[in-house]
Amino acid sequence: MIKLGIFVLLAGITACSAPRLAAETQTSADGSAPMVALTFDDGPHPSLTPKLLDILEGEGVAATFFVIGSLVEANSQIIKRMADGGHQIGNHTWDHKDMRKLSETRVVYTLQRTSEAVEKACGRPTLGTRPPYGGMNSKTEHHIPSEYKPVIMWDVDPLDWKKPGSGVVAQRIISGAKPGAIILAHDIHSGTIDAIPQVIRELKAKGYQFVTVEEILSSKNSVLR
Ligand code: NI
Repeated sequence: MIKLGIFVLLAGITACSAPRLAAETQTSADGSAPMVALTFDDGPHPSLTPKLLDILEGEGVAATFFVIGSLVEANSQIIKRMADGGHQIGNHTWDHKDMRKLSETRVVYTLQRTSEAVEKACGRPTLGTRPPYGGMNSKTEHHIPSEYKPVIMWDVDPLDWKKPGSGVVAQRIISGAKPGAIILAHDIHSGTIDAIPQVIRELKAKGYQFVTVEEILSSKNSVLR
């Protein structure tokens, strides 16, 4: 509950996610419809991420991006576009190192430098952290300052980084989706981007609404991990 308190406080003040999300993109969460959160790691990519944003905007779908800090400055307009579009921007460290292998000082540094780069690009810091490789243990979690929490893992992993083809990626996501699920994907693979229209179409047909991780966690009224 302590984590949730921090999370909500952060969300209410300055985070790079957007309360205005609701008005600008989809809708505020419909309490009766099951929710899923699409998350995209390892970008921003100079051409694929804008292509994905076009798709999301066209569908009125909000997503969450866990960005790599070292890629932010060169793609600052993309970061700005994410924020303006009501997407949540999370922290995926500066250079994608396994945080379990870093000292406390380096853990803080890699998250802080990334969040500052995002804030410079869009005016708001990152909200939430996804550890590269899902690398997390109690020591590392303890080293992460509260402003970079919660640590956000995932429920559905289509293994899109193995490039199985867009049809396979789409089917894995669609079959894995369940109410409240956080879906892992990467906006640096064209096959992933190509899978998203089908994912959105079929999950909408099943009644799902797409929301940010922030909204999923708020709706569950707890931080799961
Ligand atoms: Ni990653």
